[in-house]
Amino acid sequence: MAATSNLEDVPSTDLMTELLRRMKCATKPDKRLILVGPPGSGKGTQSPIIKDEYCLCHLATGDMLRAAVSAKTPLGIKAKEAMEKGELVSDDLVVGIIDEALKKPSCQKGFILDGFPRTVVQAQKLDEMLENRGTKVDKVLNFAIDDAILEERITGRWIHPSSGRTYHTKFAPPKAPGVDDVTGEPLIQRKDDTAAVLKSRLEAFHKQTEPVIDYYSKRGIVANLQADKPPQDVKSEVQKALS
Ligand code: AP5
Repeated sequence: MAATSNLEDVPSTDLMTELLRRMKCATKPDKRLILVGPPGSGKGTQSPIIKDEYCLCHLATGDMLRAAVSAKTPLGIKAKEAMEKGELVSDDLVVGIIDEALKKPSCQKGFILDGFPRTVVQAQKLDEMLENRGTKVDKVLNFAIDDAILEERITGRWIHPSSGRTYHTKFAPPKAPGVDDVTGEPLIQRKDDTAAVLKSRLEAFHKQTEPVIDYYSKRGIVANLQADKPPQDVKSEVQKALS
């Protein structure tokens, strides 16, 4: 928790905004969600909308790993090679970061896991973690989409690294080409967002992650979304699945 002296330095308008947000959040039901789908299926696009609507924390293992790679932490050094090849990093590494991240106060009302679990072993470990906390997964949103659509989505994606805002040259262009709408800072493309690496990422998805959908289907908590629709339509499907 921030020390009082730090709070004194926070502008009153920021404090009021945060207070109002917390009051709104107090009326929202707790939710523990998993977003699963192939690369480019729209998990990262829908997550911030769900996060704001339900006051959940958004834990994206891909973003966490990329931050570790660019900071050259021991975790990042271990993860870099697999990520650049489009392969999954080891279960132990990602389970560790999720276990730690779930302790954050912002996860108190629940969470959105985006890109985790990606193997059945990760799903089993998540069950153990949640059981220890006396909770469980409420819903799994399956972003179902044909592989053929994904190359255009992935190769046209541009990212503002510090905020995580995502753009697309055709489907969600920034106001000015190559720069973030809010800060005016330059946008970048992810190293693994090439047609060649996408092939390996899709292979990993079909082989290692699809069984995760079966794992949760047996519990009757999977909602299938038609992720090939425009973003607004996918948003409506998400709202329906969570209502
Ligand atoms: P990660 O970062 O999780 O990548 P991913 O799963 O491949 O997902 P993406 O971020 O590529 O896609 P998205 O579904 O979020 O799509 P988005 O909304 O941006 O993982 C990267 C790597 O980290 C992995 O390969 C692995 O090495 C490692 N890793 C991560 N987690 C791991 C784990 N648990 N275990 C082991 N290894 C792990 O959309 C894409 C584009 O399409 C955007 O430009 C967007 O604007 C556009 N778009 C979105 N929705 C629509 C729509 N409805 N219509 C048109 N365009 C759309």
